[in-house]
Formats: sequence, structure tokens, C-alpha cells
Amino acid sequence: MPKKNKLKIGIVGCGAIGSSLAKEIAVNFRAYAVLSALYDIRPEKAESLSRKIVKSTKLSVTSLDALIRKSELVIEASSAKAAWGVVRKSVCAGCKVMAMSVGGIVGHLDSLFVLAAKNNTQAYFPSGAISGVDALKAASIAGINKVILTTRKHPNAFKGVDYVTKNFRLSGIKTNKVLFNGSASLAVKYFPQNVNVAAVLGLAGIGIDKTQVRIIASPKVRKNIHEILIVSKAAKIFTRTENILHPHNPKTSFLAVLSAIAVLKQILQPVKIGT
Ligand SMILES: NC(=O)c1ccc[n+]([C@@H]2O[C@H](COP(=O)([O-])OP(=O)(O)OC[C@H]3O[C@@H](n4cnc5c(N)ncnc54)[C@H](O)[C@@H]3O)[C@@H](O)[C@H]2O)c1
Repeated sequence: MPKKNKLKIGIVGCGAIGSSLAKEIAVNFRAYAVLSALYDIRPEKAESLSRKIVKSTKLSVTSLDALIRKSELVIEASSAKAAWGVVRKSVCAGCKVMAMSVGGIVGHLDSLFVLAAKNNTQAYFPSGAISGVDALKAASIAGINKVILTTRKHPNAFKGVDYVTKNFRLSGIKTNKVLFNGSASLAVKYFPQNVNVAAVLGLAGIGIDKTQVRIIASPKVRKNIHEILIVSKAAKIFTRTENILHPHNPKTSFLAVLSAIAVLKQILQPVKIGT
């Protein structure tokens, strides 16, 4: 039964993820939600996406504040640098918020809990391109000893990452090369556009400092592969996810978009399945 009061959803960042989500909301969630506004730091991207969806630029707005005024749920799909500003402003305005650039939120989680509670609203962080977050959340209630993430991507996925450019010559990598081995907090700092999954794992499990991350450039892989080992008081868990790349941004996995859609379903639909 379609709802009378549809949730108004605004999207910040009209790139690979934002565009996919906008189309999904406009088509498959139309019984429950309405796309209310689109904002991008490059206005032509919001205008172009609006034209594709409603055949005019009427959904595009020129500031984050304008988007928040038109929305009840704000989806952040922009950059790690912008993420906390988007989340903070949205929550302070009483909007729900779903953030994709999770790496930009670490360090702000305590403030987020306080602000969300004070403004009686919720913030959501999709699992992204990994499997196992459901089990990690449950296991962490009993106690977690260890969480190790091993990420393998083609060297091209690390193009433009300052830490890699300074320390490695990507074109010279012919066999598996460990680019990073350390805490999730450092991984997020050095690979802000690559390891949102490390941030999610840290936030859902034993924290960002204790979660361990290995990042490997692997010339033979054509997928983004994430392996996770969790040792807990309840279970030993191992997951491996071989991700197909998003057709419009090879740094982004297709599953990350679907994960956001799955969270939207949890928010919008009356029956919620899974942890
Ligand atoms: N949680 C996950 O599992 C996961 C997976 C993949 C990507 N991500 C993150 O999601 C975000 C979006 O990914 P994408 O693949 O769509 O990237 P993209 O580069 O395709 O699109 C990003 C868009 O955001 C816009 N933008 C940048 N800064 C902005 C700002 N301050 N305000 C408004 N718009 C801004 C850009 O102009 C661009 O159009 C990135 O931060 C990425 O790291 C998260």
C-alpha cells in the first residue's frame, strides 16, 4: 500500500553513487519516497542528473543548506572531506542522514551520538562493499578479540592517492605489493577514497585504532576484493567479497551502491530483515 506522506530525500554528491541512488529512489521507491533535491559542488552535475530524472533542473539546488531545507533524509555521497559537515548540519536540522564517505566520520562518532540524540534523529552508515558487518555487530556484544581486513585492488585503483604516489611507483608493480599494513585509523587517513570499508568495520567492531588493515596492489585482480577475519567470544568469522567495479567509477564497488539501497529499504519499509 503506497504511503501518503512520502519521505523527502535529498542527495549530496551527484557522482557514481549519488546518480545510481537518485534513479533508484525515483523509480523503485516511488511508493514510499520522493527525490526532493540534488546538490553537487559542481552545479552542472546536479543539473544534469535532475534533467535525466525529471526532464528539468528543478531538483538541483545551489547549497547544502537549501538541500537540507527540502529534505527529511539527506544522503551524503560526496567526499570524505565533506562528509562530517554534511552529516552534522543535517542532524542539527533534525534530518535523518545516510553517509557513504564513512572515512570522513571517524573521530566524530561521539559528537554524532550526542547531536543525533539531542535532535531526535538517526544517522545510517551502510556496510558498503563488504560482507560480515551483521555478524560483527552481533559478535561485538559478547566481545571481539581481533578484526583484520585485507583489501586487494588493481594498482590503477590507487592512482592519485598521495600516500601511494609518494612511496611507490604504481606502473612498476608487477606482482602483489603490500602498500599498507597498520591500523584502520591510519588506513582511512592515507586512503580516504579507498577504504570506507575499514572505517565501517572499525565503527561496528573494536574501534578504528584496534582494527587492522592490509592493503595490497595486485596487478592480476580485476575486482575489489575484501577479506575479513573476525575472532570473537561468540564465533570465528571469515568473509571474502569479490566486488564488481561500478561502471562509472572503478574506485567504487557496485555492491556499495546496492548496500545503500538495502539500507534505504530498511528505513522505508515496515518489515526489517537482518541485523
Ligand atoms: N561506504 C562505502 O562502502 C563506499 C564505497 C564507495 C565509495 N564510497 C564513498 O562515497 C563517496 C561517493 O563515491 P562516488 O563513487 O559516487 O564518487 P564520485 O567521484 O563518482 O562522485 C562524487 C561526487 O561528489 C561531488 N562532491 C565532491 N565534494 C563535494 C562537496 N563538498 N559538496 C557536494 N558535492 C561534492 C563531486 O563533484 C562528485 O560529483 C566517496 O567519498 C567515496 O569514497 C563509499
